[in-house]
Amino acid sequence: MYSWYGFNKVRIRSNYNLEEQLTDISSSLRTVEWKNNKVVMIDQTKLPNELVFVEYDDFNQIADAIRTLVVRGAPAIGVSGAFGLGLAVLQSKATTKDELILDLEKAKQILFETRPTAVNLAWGLEKIMKVANSGDSVEQIRKLVISAAKKMAEDDIEINKTMGKNGSILFDDNDTIMTHCNAGALATVAYGTALGVIRATRESGKNVKIIATETRPIQQGSRLTAFELKHDGFDVTLIPDTAVGYSMANGLVNKVIVGADRIVKTGHVFNKIGTYQVATMAKQHGIPFYVAAPLSTIDLETKAEDVIIEMRKGTEVTGIGDKKTAPDGINVINPAFDMTPPELISGIITEKGVATAPYEESIPKLFEDT
Ligand code: MRU
Repeated sequence: MYSWYGFNKVRIRSNYNLEEQLTDISSSLRTVEWKNNKVVMIDQTKLPNELVFVEYDDFNQIADAIRTLVVRGAPAIGVSGAFGLGLAVLQSKATTKDELILDLEKAKQILFETRPTAVNLAWGLEKIMKVANSGDSVEQIRKLVISAAKKMAEDDIEINKTMGKNGSILFDDNDTIMTHCNAGALATVAYGTALGVIRATRESGKNVKIIATETRPIQQGSRLTAFELKHDGFDVTLIPDTAVGYSMANGLVNKVIVGADRIVKTGHVFNKIGTYQVATMAKQHGIPFYVAAPLSTIDLETKAEDVIIEMRKGTEVTGIGDKKTAPDGINVINPAFDMTPPELISGIITEKGVATAPYEESIPKLFEDT
C-alpha cells in the first residue's frame, strides 16, 4: 500500500474540495490527476513540510508547473503534458478540426519546451496528438483527447506495478538498496519506477532496507524519496551524496536501483545528476546497479551524444532553499542530468522484462510485441 496521511498541514489552492481530498489522502493519492475537467497536482516544491494541492484549468499553468518542478520525474511530466493538452482542447474556441489541431500544436510546443531531457514528455504529447488527429469533429476530438490522457495516467500505475514485479526477483531478503533522486510515487502518477520495484520486493515478502542519497542541488532524495519511503514504513536512511563511496566501501549497501529520464538504444541512461558517480562507485565495489523505467522512457531514435542535458539556474547551487551558501557572483555549472554508460549497468527493468547487455540487442526486443 502506498498511503499518505498524517501531514501537519494540508492546503488546497484555488477552489478544490478539501473534504474530498482528505478522503483521498487516507486511501491512496495521485501525484497528478484529472478531476472535473481540471488538473490537480501535489506541489512537490512544498514537500516534505506541507502537502499542498494545486488545481489548474489552463495548459500554460501546466507548462509553468513542469518548468518550476511543482511536478517532476519523467513519467509524471509525461502524463502532465498529456493532461495539458486535455486542458487545451477545453480552452480552444475552435469550430473546425483544423483550427483545433492548430491550437493543440501551439499548446504542445509550449508544453514541450519546458524541460528537454526526459523523453516521456515528448512521448506523452505525441501520443495525444495522434489521438487528436484521429478524430473527425471538434466535439469528438475533445472527448478522445481527454479520455486518452486519463487512460495514460491509469496505465502508468499498472505499468509501474508490472515493472515492480519484474524487478523484484532481482532483490533478496535483507538487501540494503541504495537509490538516487526520486523515482517513486511522486515521480509517476503513483507507485513509482525504482521505488515501485522496492515496493513490489516488500510486497513479495522480502525485507529490505533503503539508503537514499540527498540528491543536491534541490534534494529530491531527502525531500521526496526519504519522505515517501518513511511515510510508507520502510527502513530508510538518508546520506549526503558525498557518502556514496563511504557507504559502498564499508559494506552498507549491496544493490543500487535508480530511475531514468531517457534511455537510448545503446543502453546509455540519462538520469538525475550524480547517477553516473553512483554507478561508477558501484562498479568499483562490485555492487549490482539496476535502472527501472517504462518503455515510454526509451528513445530508440536519438543518439546518446544528441540528448540535451538540461542546465538549471545557478541559485539552486549557491543556496539551499532560501539560504545563501556561496559568495555573490560565483560561477556555477548546474547540469540537471548526467549519462551513465551501459558497461556500468547490470540490468534495465521495464514492464516488458529485464534487458541486459548487449543492450543494442535486448532493448529493441522489449518493443517486439508492442
Ligand atoms: O529533475 P527531476 O526531479 O525531474 O529529475 C527526476 C529524475 O531524474 C528521476 O530519477 C527520473 O525522472 C526517474 S523518475 C521515475
